[in-house]
Amino acid sequence: MPAPHAPSVRVRPVDGHDMPDLVRVDREAFPDDPMPYSVLRQFVDMFAENLLVAEDGDGRVCAYLLATPPNRGESWIFSLGVAPGMRRHGLARALMRASLENLRAEGAATVLLWVEPNNKPAATLYDSFGFVSDPRGPRRDHFGPGADRIRMTLRLRPPTTP
Ligand SMILES: CC(C)(COP(=O)(O)OP(=O)(O)OC[C@H]1O[C@@H](n2cnc3c(N)ncnc32)[C@H](O)[C@@H]1OP(=O)(O)O)[C@@H](O)C(=O)NCCC(=O)NCCS
Repeated sequence: MPAPHAPSVRVRPVDGHDMPDLVRVDREAFPDDPMPYSVLRQFVDMFAENLLVAEDGDGRVCAYLLATPPNRGESWIFSLGVAPGMRRHGLARALMRASLENLRAEGAATVLLWVEPNNKPAATLYDSFGFVSDPRGPRRDHFGPGADRIRMTLRLRPPTTP
């Protein structure tokens, strides 16, 4: 059930000083498969505009979303994580809204992502933004042995006709 009093949320692009917080949130959100520090560091270097963080009312970073800049009209939501104690406060929704707005402005026509078949919180969130699951169903072992994933797609604008 949503929290009765959602804290005020500020969404902004990451900066280099956020590294410790980013590492903490990633480890809390993905305890079984956190990103190596070096990988996160390079994402900050490469995709600063597309790596958004959400701060609570006290300025503490408690969520992030990493998207890829459009490539031939396609962007990917690469990762989205919210610290466990801050879930159901609308942080993921705020990050998604801001990221999709940015991607649209950058010219993305399609946004894609992979989601675990049993990750109901994430799938429900993506559904609510209009993402559509691949009708072919989960891709077996897509993220490695036993790690099936479903591809979800959101069209931001219709494909251009030649
Ligand atoms: C999935 C996740 C990002 C959602 O973050 P969140 O900040 O709690 O989500 P929000 O509060 O913004 O909720 C937005 C919507 O998502 C859906 N949702 C979120 N948590 C849900 C849950 N536990 N059960 C069902 N729906 C849920 C709802 O549609 C919700 O809208 P509502 O509150 O109006 O009902 C968060 O649970 C998380 O970090 N999980 C671990 C990492 C992860 O799985 N990332 C996604 C990888 S694809």
